[in-house]
Amino acid sequence: MTREVVGIAMNGVTGRMGYRQHLLRSILAIREQGGLALPDGRTVWPEPILVGRNAEKIEALAARHGLDKWTTSLDEALADPSVTVYFDAQVTQARVPALTKAIEAGKHIYTEKPTAETLEEAVRLARIADAAGIKHGVVQDKLFLPGLLKLKRLVDSGFFGRILSVRGEFGYWVFEGDWQPAQRPSWNYRSEDGGGIILDMFPHWRYVLDHVIAPVRSVYAEARTDIPTRWDERGREYKATADDAAYAIFELEGGIVASLNSSWTTRVNREELVEFQIDGTHGSAVAGLRTCKAQHRAATPKPVWNPDIPATEDFLAQWQEVPDNAVLDNGFKVQWEMFLAHLVADAPYSHDLWAGARGVQLAELGTQSWREGRKIAVPELDRTGK
Ligand SMILES: NC(=O)c1ccc[n+]([C@@H]2O[C@H](COP(=O)([O-])OP(=O)(O)OC[C@H]3O[C@@H](n4cnc5c(N)ncnc54)[C@H](O)[C@@H]3O)[C@@H](O)[C@H]2O)c1
Repeated sequence: MTREVVGIAMNGVTGRMGYRQHLLRSILAIREQGGLALPDGRTVWPEPILVGRNAEKIEALAARHGLDKWTTSLDEALADPSVTVYFDAQVTQARVPALTKAIEAGKHIYTEKPTAETLEEAVRLARIADAAGIKHGVVQDKLFLPGLLKLKRLVDSGFFGRILSVRGEFGYWVFEGDWQPAQRPSWNYRSEDGGGIILDMFPHWRYVLDHVIAPVRSVYAEARTDIPTRWDERGREYKATADDAAYAIFELEGGIVASLNSSWTTRVNREELVEFQIDGTHGSAVAGLRTCKAQHRAATPKPVWNPDIPATEDFLAQWQEVPDNAVLDNGFKVQWEMFLAHLVADAPYSHDLWAGARGVQLAELGTQSWREGRKIAVPELDRTGK
């Protein structure tokens, strides 16, 4: 059995995403299962090298997980010939310079979203990566969530008939940080530091809509900064300059209307933190992160509007649970495995820096739509720049 060792410089692993989802639940989990087995009999063995700004923190993190390679110098990591992949889960603003350096050093790229703060930079990254002939991947974790996999299965089976509309609710209350600490990092609430719910969530909405339902053709958005003052990790008051709630209508190919709300200033009254409903001529379905339930046209009740009497039916009980029918693993890990298989064995992989740029494009056009108060078409990206 041949073992293919892949050295991965992992930057931003002290952060929420970098540590839990990427290091712990993906790379270390792949090592714990004995590596990634490829269909041709080879095994991919990821060998992480932790990169971070704070030597004490990064050394302690490496020691806690029995890893011996770490550094506070990105240049040193990129100069290491055993490193073939650069992974980035830093704050969004630090991403473009780091990815650019890694591409110039000839490393393959795997990165968190958004790939950049502007479309121009996102497209430039994709172009230089193509020109360098490296392989590149961008995290699109929601596609691999059990709820959305089941929703996609329903779409692919033709269950919905003609899809008419999509409704999505994402959000929860993010504490201001004064009388209770905030549960998200403060940079998310400062636009000058790469924050904002449009830049955070529209990249997700782009790949979810494009892949699960139909390509996005236009956007109309309205956003707010509902909470203008917040308190940071050290308890210092700061001005929240970024949008913390966004309401958008997307038109998809085939005339489908998708209306998605994203908010850090709402309180949860639904089963999961995100929920999507698809309505079609033949059936409807509601998916969360893990679950998905469906209602076929033949099982659709016939409610009659009568405000004079209490509800006569238990509408929520009239849906059927869609079964897993498979072992559904952590979405971040599934995508890492796809990327590693693409890297080592050329397995097909479409979630690249171009897909990442399409996400940034939707965030940029969404912001423009909000500023200008109008619907904006979403054009195809120009790969050549000629
Ligand atoms: N895929 C998803 O579902 C998902 C969810 C949340 C965040 N994200 C993305 O992941 C990235 C990290 O988000 P997070 O919530 O883990 O953030 P975080 O603040 O918890 O972590 C940020 C990481 O970047 C490092 N860093 C590097 N330069 C920095 C600087 N100048 N200032 C502050 N930190 C710096 C920090 O040390 C830390 O390791 C963001 O780009 C975000 O958009 C993705």
